[in-house]
Amino acid sequence: MTGTLDPVVLMKQEVGRAAANRVKSHSIVGLGTGSTTAYALQFIGDRLKQGDLTDVVGIPTSFQAEVLAREYGIPLTTLDAVDHIDVAIDGADEVDPQKNLIKGGGAAHTREKIVDALAQEFIVVVDASKLVDKLGSTFLLPVEVIPMARTPVMAALEKLGGKPTLRMGVKKAGPVVTDQGNLVIDVKFEAIDNPGELEKAINNIPGVLENGLFVGVTDRVLVGEIIDGKPVVREF
Ligand code: 5RP
Repeated sequence: MTGTLDPVVLMKQEVGRAAANRVKSHSIVGLGTGSTTAYALQFIGDRLKQGDLTDVVGIPTSFQAEVLAREYGIPLTTLDAVDHIDVAIDGADEVDPQKNLIKGGGAAHTREKIVDALAQEFIVVVDASKLVDKLGSTFLLPVEVIPMARTPVMAALEKLGGKPTLRMGVKKAGPVVTDQGNLVIDVKFEAIDNPGELEKAINNIPGVLENGLFVGVTDRVLVGEIIDGKPVVREF
């Protein structure tokens, strides 16, 4: 993944590296999902190989994170085997000024919310295009739903003011199936004025497993930007 001159890739690498540098030895790390977090996992693996980090175990938030952790040599554990998570690193699809998020672009938000919310420090890694004034401005809100409940859940989401669509697979006939074997409904809301209330209202619909609103969970946001053609990381 190194050696490329694509500035967007360089920027994702730098923000991933900045997050990986915050991981301490003897810690339990939540391993997020997505293309930005993938670089953080790579750099954690590099630090372990160099001996700069020791005694780190990861808890993956998805099949993708598990595969990458194995590839980069990060030992894995489960929530059954630990009593806390020191730090979680994860991407986001939107970040508002209060550090609330929309996540789920990779259909992994259910496990991500479990792991990220448990972490003593939750670090979000994004590029500047993910910063919005109001959640829902650029990204649809993902909702994971048990397959047999998709029709009544879509009707209930419409009653809440949303426009729901079932997420379809790419290079796969039919819908996206999550790591839990469920479906994802992406919902357009014109404006999400109260993310905390909407998060609870959606999760209260029978058949919904989890939605992609992460409210009051984020501790730190690292933002990657290209300035004068060079990748720069700042804290939001
Ligand atoms: C997966 C996620 C990702 O973290 C989110 O989609 C951001 O991904 P990327 O870093 O590739 O833009 O929520 O469910």
